[in-house]
Amino acid sequence: MEEVGVLVVSYGSRGAAILDSLLRSGEYAVNAYVADRQRNPFNVKFSKEHIVIPSLDPNEICKFAARYKDKIDFAIAGPEKPIIAGLRDILEKELGIPTICPTKKYAIEKSKVAQRRLFEEVAPEVNPRFKVFDPKDYERLSDVKKQLFKWLDELDNKVAVKPDTPAAGKGVGVWGDHFNTREELYEHFMANFKEGPVIVEEKIEGEESSFQAFCDGKHLVPLPETRDYKRAFNGDRGPNTGGMGSYKSTGFYLPFMNEADWEKEKVIVEKIFNKLKGNGSNPELRGIPFYVAFIHTASGPMILENNSRPGDPEIMNILPVLKDDFVEVCFRMIEGSLTRVEVEKKATVVTYKVPPSYGGYEKFFPENVKRDEIGTPIILEKAESFASKYGDRLRIYPGSMELREDGRAYALRSRTVCTVGIGDDIQEAREISLEGLEAIEGGALWYRTDIASKEHISKSIRHMEELRKTR
Ligand code: GLY
Repeated sequence: MEEVGVLVVSYGSRGAAILDSLLRSGEYAVNAYVADRQRNPFNVKFSKEHIVIPSLDPNEICKFAARYKDKIDFAIAGPEKPIIAGLRDILEKELGIPTICPTKKYAIEKSKVAQRRLFEEVAPEVNPRFKVFDPKDYERLSDVKKQLFKWLDELDNKVAVKPDTPAAGKGVGVWGDHFNTREELYEHFMANFKEGPVIVEEKIEGEESSFQAFCDGKHLVPLPETRDYKRAFNGDRGPNTGGMGSYKSTGFYLPFMNEADWEKEKVIVEKIFNKLKGNGSNPELRGIPFYVAFIHTASGPMILENNSRPGDPEIMNILPVLKDDFVEVCFRMIEGSLTRVEVEKKATVVTYKVPPSYGGYEKFFPENVKRDEIGTPIILEKAESFASKYGDRLRIYPGSMELREDGRAYALRSRTVCTVGIGDDIQEAREISLEGLEAIEGGALWYRTDIASKEHISKSIRHMEELRKTR
C-alpha cells in the first residue's frame, strides 16, 4: 500500500473521527501527524507523531508540521479557531502543504454580520429580518438602547441576539429561552455589544437541521442531512451546548423534512457557493465551507448560521458510513475532482457523555451528581468490548479527554466522549450508540437520554405538520 502522511488538526471527538476515517483507508497506509488541544487518548494511540498545542495557534502548528514537511502530503482541520486564524494560508504559503479547510478569507463563520449580508445579496428568502448594531455607529449608549427598543417594538420582542464573532461576549441569546424581559435582553445584548457588532434578528420558529457539503472549489458535494441536539437537557431544555448528540436517517433528509425541503436547501447553498466561487473555480473554498444550520419554517428552510468546518457531532454521522475511501476523497478535494461521494444507506446516531460541569448540569441537578466519581479515570474498555458484538457498527471517539502520566484518561471540561451507532434504521442506531455510551465508566459523566428517540422525532414531525398547516 502506498504510504501517505497527513497532518490532522484536532479538537474533540471530531478530530478522532477524522483520524479514524483516514486510518481505515483501504488504499493507503496513513501516517498521521496530529496537532491536538490535549493528549486525546485515541489520537495519541493512533498517530505517528502527536503534539499538544492548547491554543491551536496556526504558527505553532506550522512549526510542528515543518519538522515533518517532507513526509506530509496534506493537512486537514476540524476546529474553527485555527481555520479562522488562517491555518491554511500559513501551511500552504510557508510549507506548501495542501490543506483541507477554507482560507482565512473564506472562513465565513468568522462574521455573522458578513454572513447575513452575503445571504441578503444572494438568497434573501433565507434571512430573517435583522438589524446590525455596530458600536462604531453610536456615541451614546442611550441611543443604542433607543434604537434597540424601537426594533424590539417592530418584532414584538421575538428576537435572537447574536454577536458578530463566534463565542464573543455571552453568545447567542433568544427571547423566551435566555431572557423574558427587555431588561434581561438588554443585559445580554450589552455583554455582546461591548465586544463588537451585534445582530438582532427575528426569532424563527421551526425544526433545525444541519447541512454539510464537501467542496473542492469547483463542485459542491452535499452530504446527508443531520439533526443536532444543542440544548443540554432532555426535551430541549437548558443552556445551549456544542451539541449533545445527533442523528442521520438512512436517506439524504430527515424524517420531519420532505424532499422539497432538501432540494431547496441544496439550491440555496449552491447560490451562496456560486457567488463565492464566481464563474470558474475557487480552490480557497476547499473543505467544508458550508455547514449550514437550517431552520424549517412554515414557508421553507431559512438559515440560522453558516460554519466553515465539519460539525461536531454532525460529521460523526457521516464519516463512518462514507463508502468512498476518505483519503481518496481528500486527494480529490485537493485536485478539484470531487464530483460525488457514496454514503451507505444506514442510519447513524451520535450520543455524548459529558462532565457534571458541562451544560450547567451540576447546578440544575446537584442531586444526580455522583460526587465521589468526579475526577476518576474514564474507562472505555467495557464499551470497546462491544466491538465483538457490534463490530464496526459501534464507534467510540474520545473528545475532551486527556491521557495522563499514570497511563489513564481523565475528563476535561468539554464533551468527554461520544459513541456512534450505525443501524438499518434510526432506532437501531440509537440503541447501539446508547449501549456503548452507557458502558463508559468513570468521571461522574452524564448524557441526554432522548437523542433520536421515537418521541423526539415524532414531536418534530408533528411540529412541522402544524407549521405547514399555517402556510
Ligand atoms: N454542532 C455544533 C457545531 O459544530 O458548531
